[in-house]
Amino acid sequence: MRLLDVAFGHPRGPLGRLGAALMVRGNVEQETWAVEQAQLHARSRVLVVGHGPGVGLVQAATAVAPGGHVTGVDPSPLMRELAAIRCAEQIAAGVVELRGGTAENTGCPGASVDAVLSVNNVMLWDRPAGFAELFRVLRPDGWLVITVHRHVLDVPPDRLLADATAAGFIDLQTSLRPRKRNSPAVELFARRPANR
Ligand SMILES: C[S@@+](CC[C@H](N)C(=O)[O-])C[C@H]1O[C@@H](n2cnc3c(N)ncnc32)[C@H](O)[C@@H]1O
Repeated sequence: MRLLDVAFGHPRGPLGRLGAALMVRGNVEQETWAVEQAQLHARSRVLVVGHGPGVGLVQAATAVAPGGHVTGVDPSPLMRELAAIRCAEQIAAGVVELRGGTAENTGCPGASVDAVLSVNNVMLWDRPAGFAELFRVLRPDGWLVITVHRHVLDVPPDRLLADATAAGFIDLQTSLRPRKRNSPAVELFARRPANR
């Protein structure tokens, strides 16, 4: 379990670099799905939590052009370093900004983003604190999109629904997407109400 955490959960050192290479290849389908679901358009402001090596950041930056902005937060210095290399062009253009942070503590102002994306990290959160923080930073009517490998999620998918509801999210939808070479992806789609 410790080795998995060093490679994927809190990636660091050579094993973290190996984990990053596997994530780039293995998780691109989910990163693409999350960006597509978030209904991004020119000038959208997006927060990507737990971005890892940054595949989803590049996709989100493309989706919000021109005039949009993507903030990435990840607690791993190694993942921020690798994501900064992958997004060098977008960072230089002022479209992508990377910071240390977590789902529970993003450092973003309240109601400042149109969408939040989380790919394969909800199992690492303190979930009540994470859902409450993401509710806070989303603008009213903004979308939260989560996808996670079923085999790493340590609670039944319904638990995510309950935690998101407790934080105030509405219009919740979950699905289980079968995949050829991996366990199904558990997907959650939720909205901050317009009047809160
Ligand atoms: C398995 S990787 C997933 C990375 C990428 N999104 C992907 O699917 O390839 C998990 C990532 O979540 C980050 N992480 C760890 N704890 C976190 C937390 N509390 N909130 C957000 N991200 C966290 C890790 O540093 C790591 O980059």
